[in-house]
Amino acid sequence: MAKAKKAKAGAKRVAKKSSRKVVKLAARKPAKANGSKKANGNGLPRPSAKPYGQAGKALEGVKILDFTHVQSGPTCTQLLAWFGADVIKIERPGVGDITRGQLRDVPNADSLYFTMLNHNKRSITVDSKNPKGKEIIERLIKYCDVLVENFAPGALDRMGFTWEHIHKLNPRMIVASVKGFGPGPYEDCKVYENVAQCTGGAASTTGFREGPPLVTGAQIGDSGTGLHLALGIVSALYQRNRTGRGQKVLAAMQDGVLNLCRVKLRDQQRLRHGPLTEYSQYGEGVPFGDAVPRAGNDSGGGQPGWILKCKGWETDPDAYIYFITQAPVWEAICDVIGEPGWKTDPEFATPKARLPKLKQIFARIEEWTTTKTKFEVMEICNARDIPVGPILSMREIAEDESLRKTGTVVEVDHPTRGKYLTVGNPIKLSDSVSEVKRSPLLGEHTEEVLTKVLGYSAKELAELKSSGAITPEEKKKAAA
Ligand code: COA
Repeated sequence: MAKAKKAKAGAKRVAKKSSRKVVKLAARKPAKANGSKKANGNGLPRPSAKPYGQAGKALEGVKILDFTHVQSGPTCTQLLAWFGADVIKIERPGVGDITRGQLRDVPNADSLYFTMLNHNKRSITVDSKNPKGKEIIERLIKYCDVLVENFAPGALDRMGFTWEHIHKLNPRMIVASVKGFGPGPYEDCKVYENVAQCTGGAASTTGFREGPPLVTGAQIGDSGTGLHLALGIVSALYQRNRTGRGQKVLAAMQDGVLNLCRVKLRDQQRLRHGPLTEYSQYGEGVPFGDAVPRAGNDSGGGQPGWILKCKGWETDPDAYIYFITQAPVWEAICDVIGEPGWKTDPEFATPKARLPKLKQIFARIEEWTTTKTKFEVMEICNARDIPVGPILSMREIAEDESLRKTGTVVEVDHPTRGKYLTVGNPIKLSDSVSEVKRSPLLGEHTEEVLTKVLGYSAKELAELKSSGAITPEEKKKAAA
């Protein structure tokens, strides 16, 4: 008991100490700037003496209480972990993040769904509804800088961790949430990826005009919102350096998707002033309605583009290339496809003249692309600055040597599932190099965090085990 008190006091001291540190830092700021002026003579902060990539990680020292599950929240905390934050993921004892068991490919091993979203984290199992479990979480709240969660609306409050309670325990804590919707009529709804794609404007603007709305394979609702949240957290941490206090950060999935559909809201407003001339339906003489239509494979900018067949398309579903008829290279395009006359023919020579004939033009370009593989088209066109992009299959991406070299595609070893491929940190910092470490097993770090971070003694740990706060099996035993 005395030891528990001691540990509690220890956690309090950690929180107090770190808040004192921030206030001091803020107060010292001008003096520090002067100091570096003196030290350096040029008014700039003195650079690290260590070589690039060896002076620690960008977010080293930042402690994250990771209460996330499924995809959106874990995407965010994985990024923070890659930048060096200590991410402690709380999972339900015996169950864990639901994705551990979803879409399993290897029996009794964590799924790729889980492993690919939870690298570089520590996992502890805590029942947040058990009184002793709550006590552990409260200690973690005092110890950490940021709590990240993406539970259904109200779930965190129902556990007893309201903003007011958290803020009282640790006024410096940043509480970051992903929710499906922001405040409004839908705020209480549970939301998954495709719901967000539909409500954020992506589905209504994706697909072909004649067909139904389409969702995209890119996880713009889940992973996209996780990215937005990570930026919110880093910004809040930066502001905390000045204010010394935490704040709430909310990234709603509908808002995140809409942010990525910004150009479509642009087009919605342009519609009031006339047809959208870069949409191929304009050239085809199809009238516009009162909302932005689906534009098939039209390019979103002012340069017409389309997906064209390449050699082998009859058997290979990915033998296609995206081809952009960028105006400044029109003459090069005419030469490449064997239509030099189009360079001067007034029917084709200007972008305006070409707009009503885009279907005919792309059909002619396709006659040429079907004689070449997508990589041959890429090589020929790139040499002439014609922007094209081969449609790469996931197999081709997985085997791409250059993506392996940059660490964007990484092979990871895992104790129960063996080797697998993952996407590494897509954001490269020259002085904070990311290394991908395998995802934790369920509760792998429970004892380590409880004893080494929170100061629980061996006796207290045993008590916790039999209380059901960290291990459901012991709970059953205790009840028997
Ligand atoms: N110990 C005890 N209970 C725990 C726990 C723990 N460690 N972790 C979670 N729980 C409980 C929660 O308290 C909640 O209980 P309650 O409903 O009694 O309050 C329960 O588990 C389920 O949480 P919930 O978030 O409702 O999960 P769900 O599987 O029903 O819903 C989502 C999943 C994703 C739909 C929902 O979490 C959601 O809408 N999240 C916000 C939007 C989002 O991120 N969506 C994208 C996910 S990729």
